[in-house]
Amino acid sequence: MSEQDKVFIFDTTLRDGEQSPGATMSHAEKLEIAGLLDEMGVDIIEAGFPIASEGDFAAVKAISEQAKTSVICGLARANLKDIDRCWEAVKHAKQPRIHTFIGTSPLHRAIPDLTMDEMADRIHETVTHARNLCDNVQWSPMDATRTEEDYLCRTVEIAIKAGATTINIPDTVGYTAPRESAALIQMLLERVPGADEIIFATHCHNDLGMATANSLAAVEAGARQVECTINGLGERAGNTALEEVVMALKVRNDIMPYRTGIDSTKLMNISRRVASVSGFAVQFNKAIVGKNAFAHESGIHQDGMLKNAETFEIMRPADVGLSETNIVMGKHSGRAALRSKLAELGFDLGDNQLKDVFVRFKALADQKKEVYDEDLIALMQTGDAEEDHIKLTALKVSCGMGLEKSAEMTLEIDGVAKSVSATGDGPVDAAFNAVKSLFPHTARLQLYQVAAVTEGTDAQATVSVRLEEDGKIATGQSADVDTVVASVKAYVNALNRLVVRREKAGGDKAEVSYKDVS
Ligand code: KIV
Ligand code: ZN
Repeated sequence: MSEQDKVFIFDTTLRDGEQSPGATMSHAEKLEIAGLLDEMGVDIIEAGFPIASEGDFAAVKAISEQAKTSVICGLARANLKDIDRCWEAVKHAKQPRIHTFIGTSPLHRAIPDLTMDEMADRIHETVTHARNLCDNVQWSPMDATRTEEDYLCRTVEIAIKAGATTINIPDTVGYTAPRESAALIQMLLERVPGADEIIFATHCHNDLGMATANSLAAVEAGARQVECTINGLGERAGNTALEEVVMALKVRNDIMPYRTGIDSTKLMNISRRVASVSGFAVQFNKAIVGKNAFAHESGIHQDGMLKNAETFEIMRPADVGLSETNIVMGKHSGRAALRSKLAELGFDLGDNQLKDVFVRFKALADQKKEVYDEDLIALMQTGDAEEDHIKLTALKVSCGMGLEKSAEMTLEIDGVAKSVSATGDGPVDAAFNAVKSLFPHTARLQLYQVAAVTEGTDAQATVSVRLEEDGKIATGQSADVDTVVASVKAYVNALNRLVVRREKAGGDKAEVSYKDVS
């Protein structure tokens, strides 16, 4: 295969993905995810939107400094201040990129109230400015799929002439269908002078469930960069899922002869980490990375699988990094066994981290006879982060038929231990009331969901909690063999994320809105 067949993978989990309501990640989490993306072979990482807040700026800068091989990109609206701020953050990368955009469709043009000519001038000015700062400039006509073709060609030509090296064609509202997605790229390649000298990218949202199909159709028509996120994280119904694109190109290389530089055996691990840090659990039947993606329930399927795995599997679990061995851990398992088991599951731990996880593993093994892979994954996805403001340190609940439901709790809030006793309609309600009394807040509980990690009455419960405060959403997750403990930890986890969001909003330098281009 030649260079022509290489499809660049542009991951925007940390920018477009993080924009999904409730998916806020901490600085340390963003750095960790960026490191995993880099290691997996992602070509370009969109690390954030530097003008959006001090926190975003700091994250993009730190990711730029740590990146080994990936190009690091920051987003900027079509104004000089945004672009300068973006450059200040990405210039520390070995390979920086500025990504600037403006909404070109009639609906989007109406918001800044620019005429077609005024917008064309703005594109020329901003792309030229970006290119004077950085050799690697990406330009996006937002809502391209609802932009008049003639105007789209005109703006793309201006951006190319001004120095853009990648032109991204976003289906911002997930409106397009695969045939149209392909036709649009083909049309641009045929009509725009200079189109053969730049890379066309495809950026699809999943509102109609066609994002991955639309991205692949664009590739077949000539796009050579796919923009995507881990687990398809993103606004509304999300974005094209990175794992789907990578595995579709790998498994169906016979009809789509393109290659990516992604090490697919790292997919499962990064999917789990993103689910954990974003608080967005992966649906069980999600392609490639869902819990059931390689599970076989029906007798016919199980029988076929035992005779020949290819009867019902088009890829091997190991191809995406799923372990095939099934060594069950227990309370007699030692540190070395835990380290090797976790490495097999994709978690490479340093000595200090292992020490902490080992203590929690022993506590779990004391409560559960057998600790399955799923239990270990849940264990890795929970636990206090050093930067957490609120930590649960003690909890005792009392409940039963005809009895008052109460909770005695101690929380450590910014290092200070505080205790209270509270009552409620049930043990979880009482415990949540205790949290509210120790850490008063106005956030509303939007979702409370409990699921068992494995089978059996000694199974760990994973709990998801979603809170809303002044339009800001934060989700939290936790797992424990005690459902009430898991519930409180998930609630506290969501509160910690909300605190981060509050800090982020407070630190904003600019009132960021996609409508505001100037
Ligand atoms: O969906 C979109 O249009 C975007 C742009 C900022 C590229 O995310
Ligand atoms: Zn987008």
